[in-house]
This record gives sequence, structure tokens and C-alpha cells, in this order.
Amino acid sequence: MAEFTTSDGLERILTLELARVTEAAAIASYDQVGRGNEHDADRAAVDAMRRALNQCNFDGTVVIGEGERDEAPMLYIGEKVGTGKGPKVDIALDPLEGTTLTAKAMANALAVVAVAEGGSLLHAPDTYMDKIAIGGGYPEGIVDLDADPRDNILALARAKGVRPQEIKACILDRPRHADIIAKVREAGAAVALISDGDIAGVIHTSDPETGIDIYMGQGGAPEGVLAAAALRCVGGQIQGRLVFRNDDERGRAARIGIKDFNRKYGTLDLASGDVMFAATGVTDGSMLRGIHRTGRFMTSETIVMRSKTGTVRWIRARHVIKDR
Ligand code: FBP
Repeated sequence: MAEFTTSDGLERILTLELARVTEAAAIASYDQVGRGNEHDADRAAVDAMRRALNQCNFDGTVVIGEGERDEAPMLYIGEKVGTGKGPKVDIALDPLEGTTLTAKAMANALAVVAVAEGGSLLHAPDTYMDKIAIGGGYPEGIVDLDADPRDNILALARAKGVRPQEIKACILDRPRHADIIAKVREAGAAVALISDGDIAGVIHTSDPETGIDIYMGQGGAPEGVLAAAALRCVGGQIQGRLVFRNDDERGRAARIGIKDFNRKYGTLDLASGDVMFAATGVTDGSMLRGIHRTGRFMTSETIVMRSKTGTVRWIRARHVIKDR
């Protein structure tokens, strides 16, 4: 009989286990879609994701989680998850990426998790990160976090063999991005503004169907690590640098081992080794369909991918509703 596991790297069977983890969080968030309560939505997703993670056969440590131990009751940084049997892995998670999107029943809320060999995900503090990302197929370093946004657009257009007018940048719609947005438009490119959810924004660069070529701007640092894990699987490049607004944030970074506060991280600095990434749609979005309920069933759509093979799987599942 064929073996389901590999002795080198993460076990293939984990693909389905991870899908169950993000499915559980997305399904638990469903009742909170459009209820205007971000806290309850997040709480439901966290509870469910934690329960599902603890059924997985690995010896996991949360490295990107809900916060530091003294402020997050569950899925805090350093928490042990899994059955303890199986490979030693780092876990990065965002049980509900887009709490506001969920509370307002807007598109693109996701439940997200990444698993990597122990020691291979950046332990990022809960601060902001400046980011730039492009999809696969380009030479390393053709865009740069420290370059003028106009130059990045022109370089990308040259590498793609198109006019700058045919480049589209995805940027979070925030006042802090006014300058980047103006420069990208000055270079001739189009800007797709998103209200939240920059993990999906980054992943979009690797999917030609989205029409997004480049992601630019400042979002959460944990989301930067999760996005890097996804790009390791589907191809693409991301650069990021932590942004600190005060000494408290510098202290958080120092406590989890960040030494160089100005470091520019590349894709492999954020997520190295053998990585797996899974996301389930909570609300309908450009990447995944959200959770839907019909009679006794709920349906979910999940994407699971693996860096080692580059395989991307879409899993549509029907779940029987119990005790509701
Ligand atoms: P939450 O789900 O934690 O609310 O994060 C949503 C998000 O849009 C992220 O995708 C993004 O990285 C971050 O918030 C941006 O932060 P801010 O809303 O403070 O600009």
C-alpha cells in the first residue's frame, strides 16, 4: 500500500489536517458575519481554530498568533498546539484575517494558517510592516522596498514587457498611503484599493486572473509573514521592514528576539524551509468563496499549498450542521 508520509520535511497528510483547521475557524465565524461585532467574530474563530489545531498530529509552537502570552488567552505566541506526535513545526496563524470585513459582511475575510519546519518562520511582533510584493516569474530584486514607487512601477513594467499603464498595484486604502498611491498613478499604473486584508492582497500578485501585479504599503507584520509563506508556495517575492511607532513596540520586538530594527527582510527571511499554507473563505472574495449555509449543510472553500512541491489544492467541502 502506498505510504502517505514522507520522511523528509512536512508530512503530506498534513494538507488535509490544515484544511480542517481553517475550515473550522471560518465556519465558526459564519454566525458573526454582518453582526457588527469584531471582537466576537475573532473570538469564535480563535476558539475553533485552537480546538482543530490541537487535533493535528504535530508538535507545534505558535510563532505568529493572537498576541503575547499576558494579553492573549488563546493561541498566544509560544503556545504549544497539536497532539505532540509528529514533526516539530512552527505555526503562524490568523484565525480571522479581516475582522472588520466579517463584522460588516464585506468581501475577502479569510481564516489563515501556515506551518513550517521548526525555526523557519520569522517571529514577527504585532507591529506594522512596510511591504512590497510581486508574483512569480521575475528576476530576484527587480523591485525594492527602498526604491521610489514610480521606479518600482517602471521596473516591473519593463520586466513584464508592458507599458506602465498596464500595471495594477494593490494598496490598503489608508491615509498613510496617500504618497505611494499618488506616485504609482504618476508612473501611469492603476491602483486597486482594498479596505482590509493584505494577505490576500499579496497573494493576488501571484494569480494573473486578479489583474494585480504588485502589492505595496504598510500592513500588519504578522500578515507579512503569512503572506511570505503563501508566496513560497505559489511563487513570488516579498520584502518587508518592521515599523515601530513607540518604545512599547520596540520592546515587543526585542522580547521575541528581533535585534536589528531596521532590517529589510526578503521572502526567505520571513519564511524559509518547507512551508504549508491554508486559507478558507469566510465571506465571498476574489480568492475564495465564503461559507454558505443551505438547510442542514454549510459549504466551505479552502486553498492549501505546499512549498516543497508547489502544489495548490482547492478543497470544496460540505459540512453537516450539528447542534445549531
Ligand atoms: P484584522 O483582521 O486583524 O483586523 O486585520 C486586517 C488588516 O487589514 C490586515 O490585513 C492588515 O495587515 C492590517 O489590518 C492593516 O492594519 P490597519 O487596519 O491598522 O491599517
